[in-house]
Amino acid sequence: MLHLCGVFSREEILVAMEVFGDGVASADPGRYALFGADDGEELRGYICVGRVPMTASTWDLYWLCIHPEARRRGVGRSLVTHGEAYVAAHGGRRLAVQTSGRPDYGPVRAFYATMGFQLVGRIPDYFADHDDGVFYYRVLEPSGNRAVTAEGARLRARP
Ligand SMILES: CC(C)(COP(=O)(O)OP(=O)(O)OC[C@H]1O[C@@H](n2cnc3c(N)ncnc32)[C@H](O)[C@@H]1OP(=O)(O)O)[C@@H](O)C(=O)NCCC(=O)NCCS
Repeated sequence: MLHLCGVFSREEILVAMEVFGDGVASADPGRYALFGADDGEELRGYICVGRVPMTASTWDLYWLCIHPEARRRGVGRSLVTHGEAYVAAHGGRRLAVQTSGRPDYGPVRAFYATMGFQLVGRIPDYFADHDDGVFYYRVLEPSGNRAVTAEGARLRARP
């Protein structure tokens, strides 16, 4: 699925897999928490969030990947909404995301804007020449410690 996304480099995929393994193995709810969406048989998307070390209550949306065949059906929205609820339920008040300014990342930037993330910065050539870092941020409502299940979001039925 990470390969099929078409935007991640080999190195990024290796790091994503490392983070995935670490998240599955860890008992710490703030370290690489993972939620998936499936179609009843296969994983069609996942999100990974985690507490940012040395901050009071900021979390990072580390990874988000939706299978190309499952896009534009609300899976990304469901996963981010679920991830935000999980972060808020664990005392997180802010969610940060960094992504790329490359043209092939246009859809993901449109997605974060739609999801209400605020564009807070752009660092030229951050990842590499002609590959800016683009930074988004969102303040979360306190959840009052609502319980959040680890079930994750389910893939919406094809219309
Ligand atoms: C970006 C991504 C996560 C979106 O997931 P998705 O499940 O297709 O998104 P949703 O169906 O929940 O879309 C929610 C809204 O976001 C916006 N949006 C999503 N994809 C978009 C696109 N390709 N172009 C423009 N807007 C888009 C739309 O407003 C959409 O609402 P609508 O379909 O009612 O118009 C997915 O395309 C993806 O995994 N991309 C590759 C991996 C990636 O870039 N990950 C992030 C790295 S930082």
